[in-house]
Amino acid sequence: MNTPELGLPMPVPAEGLPARVRIHEVGARDGLQNEKATVPTAVKAEFIRRLAGTGLTTIEATSFVHPKWVPQLADAEDLYPQISDLPVSLPVLVPNERGLDRALALGARRVAVFASATESFAKANLNRTVDESLAMFEPVVSRAKGEGDDVRVRGYLSMCFGDPWEGPVPVPQVVRVCRALLDLGCDELSLGDTIGVATPGQVTALLAALAEAGVPVSALGVHFHDTYGQALANTLAALQQGVSTVDASAGGLGGCPFAKSATGNLATEDLVWMLRGLGIDTGVDLGRLVATSVWMAAHLGRPSPSRTVRALSHQES
Ligand code: HMG
Ligand code: MG
Repeated sequence: MNTPELGLPMPVPAEGLPARVRIHEVGARDGLQNEKATVPTAVKAEFIRRLAGTGLTTIEATSFVHPKWVPQLADAEDLYPQISDLPVSLPVLVPNERGLDRALALGARRVAVFASATESFAKANLNRTVDESLAMFEPVVSRAKGEGDDVRVRGYLSMCFGDPWEGPVPVPQVVRVCRALLDLGCDELSLGDTIGVATPGQVTALLAALAEAGVPVSALGVHFHDTYGQALANTLAALQQGVSTVDASAGGLGGCPFAKSATGNLATEDLVWMLRGLGIDTGVDLGRLVATSVWMAAHLGRPSPSRTVRALSHQES
C-alpha cells in the first residue's frame, strides 16, 4: 500500500466555530451494512484497526440487530472481540434488549439506539411505530446506564429533514422525538439526514428549534448522507450553530438498506479537509485515512466516491 502524496489546505480559521470537532466514524457500520456482498470479518477488523491508526477516536464498529434484517453485520459476535483491544471508543447499534444483551456480553461500553422522526421509516427500519420504538428503547437505555458511569448511550434520530415516503418532515415532529430520546437518558443525539436531502437553511432552522426547546447543543451530533452533495455545506451550518460532533464515513461508504434513496455518508476525508482548512483540530492524519479508504475500495472492487480521496490518491475512477 502506498501512502498517497498529499496536499493539505491552507488553514484559515473562521469566526464562531468550535476549536475542535470529534468525528464519529461510521464507515464500518453505516458503510458496510449497505454493501451487497458481505465483507469478510477479517477485512472489517483490519479496516477498523487501520481507522484507529489514523487518529480517529470514535469508530462505530457494528450492529447487534436481527441478522436476517442486516445480514452484512451478522458477524458482530465474531468481529467485536477482534477489535475490542483498540484504545478507541467502539460504539455499536442495539435496537432492543436482545441487542443490548449481545453487546454487553462482549464488553461493549458504548451503545446506540436508533429512532425515527417519521412513522414510515420507524415501520420500515424497526417494525414499530415511533412510540412503540421509544418504548422498546426505554429498558435498553436504562439498563445500559445502570451498567456503570462509563457506559454512554447515543440516540440516533433518522429522517430529521426529509423522508422518502412522507416528504419534508415538520420540525416540531423532530423536536418531539429528540426530547423523548433525551428524556429516556441518552447522553448524545445524532440528527440524521438519512436520505441526504437537507440544505443548510433547514439545518440551521432545526438546530434553532432544538435550542429553543432546551436541548443543549453539546448533546448534539449531525449525521449527513451526501445524496445531493449538500453534506459539507450542512456540516458547516451545524458548526456555525455550535455543533462539535460530526458523523462521517471513511471514503464516503454508506447508505441504509431500509431507505432506498439513501447514498453514502459525508466522506470523512472531505470533512477532515474542510476542518483542517478552517483551522479546526480533529487529530486525524489525512494521508493515513486516504490510504485506508483506498485499501477498502480495493476490497470492495470500486473506487471511493469521496472527492478528497480521489484528489489525493491515484485511485482509478
Ligand atoms: P422484529 O421482527 O419486529 O423482531 O424486528 P421481534 O422483536 O418481533 O423478534 C423476532 C425474533 O427476532 C425473535 O426471535 C428475537 O429473539 C429475534 P424468535 O424468538 O422469534 O426466535 N431478535 C433478535 N435477534 C438478534 N438480535 C437482535 C434481535 N432482536 C430480535 N437484536 C428488530 C425488530 C428491531 C429486531 C429489527 O427490525 C431489526 O433488527 N432492525 C434493524 C434495522 C437496522 O439495523 N437498520 C439500519 C441501522 S439504522 C440506520 O442506518 C440509520 C442511521 O445511520 C442514522 C441515519 O442515517 O438516519 C443510524
Ligand atoms: Mg446513516
